Amino acid sequence: MTRTAPTFTTAHLAPVPDETEAYDLDVTGTLPAELDGRYLRNGPNPLPGEAPGHLFTGHGMLHGIRLRGGRAEWYRNRWVRTKKLSCEPPNRGDRAVHSANTHIIEHGGHLLALCEAGFPYEVTGGLDTVGPYDFAGRLTTAMTAHPKTDPVTGELLFYGYSTTEPYVAFHIADAAGTLVHSEPIEVPGPTMMHDFAITENYVLWLDLPAVFDPGRAGMPFGWDDDYGARIGVLPRSGGTVRWFEIDPCYVFHVGNAREEGGSIVLDAVRYSPPAFLAAWHGDDRPAAEARHAPTAERGALHRWTLDPVAGTVREQRLDDRTVEFPTVADEFVGRPNRFLYAMGGPGLVKYDSNSGAAAEYVAGPDDRLGEAVFVPAAGATAEDDGWLLTISTPGDGSASRLLVLDATDLHETAAVRLPRRVPAGFHGSWIEEEK
Ligand SMILES: [Fe+2]
Repeated sequence: MTRTAPTFTTAHLAPVPDETEAYDLDVTGTLPAELDGRYLRNGPNPLPGEAPGHLFTGHGMLHGIRLRGGRAEWYRNRWVRTKKLSCEPPNRGDRAVHSANTHIIEHGGHLLALCEAGFPYEVTGGLDTVGPYDFAGRLTTAMTAHPKTDPVTGELLFYGYSTTEPYVAFHIADAAGTLVHSEPIEVPGPTMMHDFAITENYVLWLDLPAVFDPGRAGMPFGWDDDYGARIGVLPRSGGTVRWFEIDPCYVFHVGNAREEGGSIVLDAVRYSPPAFLAAWHGDDRPAAEARHAPTAERGALHRWTLDPVAGTVREQRLDDRTVEFPTVADEFVGRPNRFLYAMGGPGLVKYDSNSGAAAEYVAGPDDRLGEAVFVPAAGATAEDDGWLLTISTPGDGSASRLLVLDATDLHETAAVRLPRRVPAGFHGSWIEEEK
């Protein structure tokens, strides 16, 4: 039997072989002149000829597009030059030998390329690597790729998980970027915790049955039917975690959490155990077919409503579409949000929690859209007054586009033609110029 290349190195996910840059990019439509900053996105991109073994372990590559004054000034892509990329021999306990391939954020004046396997890597606005970043020596665990910035306090809340105790450690950096708090979070075993959630007064923990399995090559995590599944609630003012048992599932990505009346509501993309295993081991179906796959086998938007007084939790499936990369406007992280955006279905879906309706932006038949990043309009008064930025990747190897959609009605405001295909990757951010 002929062994074909794994899906995570072909079609939309096929890596690019080199670094490049281009200037004064072609724009279709009208770029909003007030968009002054960089759209940055991270994703795995193995070196030419390299076989990473798993989608999640390829070297991180950053793609950046600089927008200013209605123009797309440049595009640039750079590998994150980690110790793993340069094959530096690790020190004992070294937390900087990983791929830094999952996300990029700004906090306290630092641009950080994130991967949950270790320390962030700091990079410059031009995407050059500065080096591992450990909050001036205060961070002694790995750091999740999904920290949460509180929109009111400006604090960065995050955690690291580990295959040794403490399995989870919670951290807070203040708005200026100083790591001011660290504490262990007790869980029964080495769970793979990809994301978490915050509300105004709580931190929510996802203690789920994807756990460390040292016998597995590549990404050594597997499914443990005996582990159980729980959502933990930790008061941000301090105290102990209260745990709520839920039906076993996996959540790669949280959309948002919020307090409503006396309840705590969590919206996230839920995978059944078979759906998790299909995603984890790679899914060979082409995008067009996967879109129509039975949703029971894929991730779909769900809601968990926790009642801290009664100690109960209710789970609801919110929609049958297969979606991923749920996002909300930064100003609504941990606060009552009306809108949530996700990639999937025919392209991009905008959920309205007031009406229960969902609007769609339909991508080209062989185009895959990346995570949508919401950028508010200047002087915005409504939650969805702004734009959604996302990279569209064709499956045929032709050039990608940065789409700028009007978030109110999802019409295409502008499209920036990039000089090359940008592999479908993971997460990104809009970094305003004053930052
Ligand atoms: Fe992620």
